[in-house]
Amino acid sequence: MKTLDKKNRSLKDIRISVTDKCNFRCGYCMPKDIYNSSYQFLKKAEILSFEEIELLVNSFSDLGVEKVRLTGGEPLLRKNIHKLVERIKVNNKIKDVCITTNGVLMTKEAVNNLKLSGLDRITFSLDSINESSFKKISDTNYTPSDVIQGIENALSAGFKNTKINVVIKKGINDNEIVDILSYFKNHDIEIRFIEFMDVGNTNDWSFEKVFGRDQILNEIEKKYTINKVKDLAQSSTSEVWSYDYGRFGIISSVTKPFCTNCTRIRLTCDGKLYNCLFSSNGYDIMKFIRPFYMDDKLINFLSNLWKSRDDSYSLDRKKIITVNKVKDKAEMSYIGG
Ligand code: GTP
Ligand code: 5AD
Ligand code: SF4
Ligand code: SF4
Repeated sequence: MKTLDKKNRSLKDIRISVTDKCNFRCGYCMPKDIYNSSYQFLKKAEILSFEEIELLVNSFSDLGVEKVRLTGGEPLLRKNIHKLVERIKVNNKIKDVCITTNGVLMTKEAVNNLKLSGLDRITFSLDSINESSFKKISDTNYTPSDVIQGIENALSAGFKNTKINVVIKKGINDNEIVDILSYFKNHDIEIRFIEFMDVGNTNDWSFEKVFGRDQILNEIEKKYTINKVKDLAQSSTSEVWSYDYGRFGIISSVTKPFCTNCTRIRLTCDGKLYNCLFSSNGYDIMKFIRPFYMDDKLINFLSNLWKSRDDSYSLDRKKIITVNKVKDKAEMSYIGG
């Protein structure tokens, strides 16, 4: 079934946040002064079980969803996450199942389990390969080597189309763009530089802190010859370029938004749906799941929800920020990116 929203976009992808917890405290996502020992994370009973997520994915696939991305927080903190992947992979309408992870729990055992479960792709987040700036950015006792070990484990287990997300913040890690690209030049990996976004309410974002797409390209061109390989395709977040040793991407949600081809919906681990990464409202679908799973009612609700969708936050960002004044947005660790 193909359902179009008010801007003619179909529903193709679901991002599922499987936990609101993380073992990092990146300042742009979970600053330590807020996410400390007194912060109330969701309780186990509030969180969707693997069985419930499987049922939901099946309902979404009836509405046209073909791609599932598992996020968090840190998805590997969810015990036996490969068992969830196994359940999702049974559905042959789902063509692509991926995980976005900080990588430090990607042990050999974990990646092998994920490979066997049928997981298609892994995307790692790594903002710096320099120990002290990594520490400053991610505010954790793990080191870049721990993440790199996770990446190596994934490649050794045979994962293809592996990507590394690098969020660039002006004055913090913009001096590492070429270093990171060069460090991974002999790996079969696509590095994706991401413009710092105003997700949530706690990351102290401003336009001035964004190191934009054109500036990123400028940095890379100082060292390498680059050529555009792929414009923003349907459902995609990134443009892709070739450079002397492979390909890299840029995700420029601030300076070159991609709302016109946005086919994504988001599900939080406690069963709320968000039509946009920057939404203030989540739609509670627990009433269709507990105590009994009500497939028909849920599908009807989802279909109407998507049909009434009108979001294009990134395209309208300036106006929304200056004129409308933004209400509280969902936090990144909760909504999953
Ligand atoms: P691929 O499937 O490999 O293209 O990955 P992806 O880019 O869809 O997902 P990933 O989790 O790697 O996210 C990369 C960056 O894109 C993160 O900073 C996300 O928050 C951001 N992102 C993903 N989807 C959207 C979106 O719909 N809108 C905006 N503004 N940013 C998004
Ligand atoms: N801006 C851009 N990207 C972000 N991410 C987390 N917070 C932000 C932000 N404020 C990235 C993470 C991860 C992905 C899911 O989102 O680094 O790679
Ligand atoms: Fe954890 Fe990723 Fe958020 Fe960093 S950006 S705190 S690794 S969920
Ligand atoms: Fe989609 Fe909202 Fe991101 Fe635009 S800002 S691409 S509508 S999630």
